[in-house]
Amino acid sequence: MKIMEIEGNHELSGTIRISGAKNATVALIPAAILTDEEATICNVPEITDIDALCGILDELKVDVKRASESIIINPKNMQNIEIAEKYSKKLRASYYFMGALLGKYKKAIMYFPGGCSIGARPIDLHLKGFEALGATVTNEKNKYIVEAEELKGANIYLDIASVGATINIMLAAVKAKGVTIIDNAAKEPEIVNVATFLNNMGAKITGAGTSTIRIEGVEHLHKCFHEVIPDRIEAGTYIIIGALCGKNLKIDNIIPEHIDSLLSKLEEMGTDLQIGTDYVLISKANKYKSTNIKTLVYPGFPTDLQQPFTVLLTQCCGKSKVTETIWENRFMHISYLNSLGADITIKNQTATIMGPTKLTGTSVVATDLRAGAAMVAAGLVAEGTTTITNVEHILRGYEQIVEKLTSVGAKITIKEI
Ligand code: UD1
Repeated sequence: MKIMEIEGNHELSGTIRISGAKNATVALIPAAILTDEEATICNVPEITDIDALCGILDELKVDVKRASESIIINPKNMQNIEIAEKYSKKLRASYYFMGALLGKYKKAIMYFPGGCSIGARPIDLHLKGFEALGATVTNEKNKYIVEAEELKGANIYLDIASVGATINIMLAAVKAKGVTIIDNAAKEPEIVNVATFLNNMGAKITGAGTSTIRIEGVEHLHKCFHEVIPDRIEAGTYIIIGALCGKNLKIDNIIPEHIDSLLSKLEEMGTDLQIGTDYVLISKANKYKSTNIKTLVYPGFPTDLQQPFTVLLTQCCGKSKVTETIWENRFMHISYLNSLGADITIKNQTATIMGPTKLTGTSVVATDLRAGAAMVAAGLVAEGTTTITNVEHILRGYEQIVEKLTSVGAKITIKEI
């Protein structure tokens, strides 16, 4: 087990370079098997979720070469075998192999995906989408067999604008006969990045980034080269950390419009913020106004930044509110923030934060990936030492977090116990 120790209350200055987006890469890697040729993906983050997906590729006998920040995937000799539960449960995004294998072989056998415990996380919309394309789904306990004689384009309306279902249906539909329309599609930048990748391979997808995506099926996908977009959630996390303890902290290699909702909130609160074309420069302000946020689908405030943002709200003057509308169990960080000295109460899906409160280091737990990011942010602003357990959750999604924070002046270490 790994633990992280943070000696808080140090000013952070210098530059943090943002890595490629986890939530795009975890879809791009399964998408790469749709061709029989080589796909080169660069700006790939070095995080354990990528290692887990490479484990699945290895099982499927896909040739994978990894170099610094890039991955070359060649599925020429791959075999479509059942993906064992020990692989699928390592991460949520293992479910993208369902769409990709169905799209390529018209058959996928795998188990219910894993991932952070932030809610029930059903996959009914993915499966309904596959069925609309002509597949049958058999489910025994946790095992899913999805197969089709032929996949045919269809009109699919998503009851919820689900990121996972939108991408998975795109993967299944890309080689289907005819045209598929996904209505009420999710609009997240990661979806656009995946559609661009598929189009680079010869797919015919239009409308990604809007609520209607049109996919005209093609027979063949070819080799390609692709770059992952910067991780807007990693960027947002470090920007929040900058607002807590930065002094001209530069968060570099970002696409600012991907985090508009965060940046406008920070401006409203009185943050010292400079927004460049591909960077943000941020310093801690003397005083922050309280504010309210409600998590929404893109371009609304991202649920994945709600937990670290709550830490900043503990330093605002007066009452702030956080309403979580996407996941029913995403407040597990709150009791740990209270143990550090925060004053937060939860009623239904809303947390009320009274501030400012002084935070003092203690032992806390990273209950999930972004709760872990919240603990890091809290540890950096707290007085004394904060010890975080279950650090594995954090390493699933933040590349070289210790190195990046150390390079700007943080006192942070990870050790194996
Ligand atoms: C993705 C992100 C995750 C982020 C979330 C919302 C990845 C790997 N993960 O997760 O970090 O928090 O988007 O921005 O990209 N739902 C259903 N049925 C379904 C699918 C979803 O009811 O079949 C519900 C979910 O329970 C949730 C909502 O729809 O309440 C949104 O989920 P979705 O957008 O699918 O999230 P993920 O793709 O799992």
